[in-house]
Amino acid sequence: MTNTDLFAPCTFNGLPLKNRIVMSPLTRARADMEGNAGALQAEYYAQRASAGLLITEATAVLPEGRGGPFLPGLWDERHVAAWRLTTEAVHAKGGRIFCQLWHAGRLSHSSLHPKGQPPVAPSPYRQKGKVVGANGLADYEEARELRLDELPGVVDAFRQAARRAREAGFDGVEVHGAHSYLLDSFLRDMTNRRTDAYGGTIENRARLLLEVMAAVAQVWDPERTAVRLSPIGHAYDAWDSDPESLFTHVVEQLNALRIGWLDLVEGDTGVSRDAEPSFDLGKLRRLFKGALIANNLYDLELAVQARRTDAADLIAFGRPFIGNPDLVERLQAGAPLVEADRRTYYSGGEKGYIDFPPMSREDAAAG
Ligand SMILES: Cc1cc2nc3c(=O)[nH]c(=O)nc-3n(C[C@H](O)[C@H](O)[C@H](O)COP(=O)(O)O)c2cc1C
Repeated sequence: MTNTDLFAPCTFNGLPLKNRIVMSPLTRARADMEGNAGALQAEYYAQRASAGLLITEATAVLPEGRGGPFLPGLWDERHVAAWRLTTEAVHAKGGRIFCQLWHAGRLSHSSLHPKGQPPVAPSPYRQKGKVVGANGLADYEEARELRLDELPGVVDAFRQAARRAREAGFDGVEVHGAHSYLLDSFLRDMTNRRTDAYGGTIENRARLLLEVMAAVAQVWDPERTAVRLSPIGHAYDAWDSDPESLFTHVVEQLNALRIGWLDLVEGDTGVSRDAEPSFDLGKLRRLFKGALIANNLYDLELAVQARRTDAADLIAFGRPFIGNPDLVERLQAGAPLVEADRRTYYSGGEKGYIDFPPMSREDAAAG
């Protein structure tokens, strides 16, 4: 593949990267029930360390912030040593890794919570559909509205988890502000119907996310702080009456905080790249002053095109990294990609996780 800078070393926000390919956050449910990652995760991420930047799977900042069983956390000091195995293994291979910090909000289940308490949200809301709880599939429950006096605790949970991520040796952190999880659900007027300082106007609805970003950017440099947004995605009822004004405001405020990275999910994650005709995401690209990571259904051709038109600085691949630990080398060689078996996405164990062989000579030649 000639004539693209996708595979060339680059530096963003003072961080040298091997290339412009990012591993998108991918929940794989291989931690233990107490939220500890371990040697298995270390092996998995190290296998993928030829990416310019790895972003971990969603990592809960509170036990009640988990959206399923066997997901990792950073809500406790003991999680630090567990994650350090991963950061050391990735660094030993010259890779870079950010930790994605997450609160699932209403998309969680009481069976996963320490006291069996209901999930929380900006406003009472019952999501349609099913969630994987501690005892298997369960209906979503009616979420409890977070009280005003509980919100500083949410901000502090992100702050403390960001500090632990530092202690664990990560190169930075990404706040999960997408996919209708807690912070995204505060942004949108379909899921946020509060009448206090965190609801109503766009400024109010963006307040919690921006307070979290400011807190995290104090623990880290803003340059090592990223945020993931899915402005035109509608997963889990993520609707807003005016997404363009909402996300324009958010990005302006991210600039004011000097946040270094915006991880932008273009369209409905994993489903479609179609934008609402009223809202050109290119506007956010032009507005954001830091490094823009674009994600969603990219293949090599689209990625090359995005760089040619400067639509993004870096391209994040999600599912292709599951079956292809050496995705960068395969893309560069134009080799065929292995499609992972969806049944192994969250199944636990080594199968479908760390057992994908590197590209063969025949595959390389096929390119
Ligand atoms: C198995 C799986 C787990 C995912 N887990 C997360 C996650 O933890 N955090 C997140 O922000 N996105 C998550 N996503 C979304 C991906 O990061 C990405 O946005 C999506 O797969 C689209 O990119 P792709 O077409 O390259 O796969 C997940 C997707 C899949 C398939």
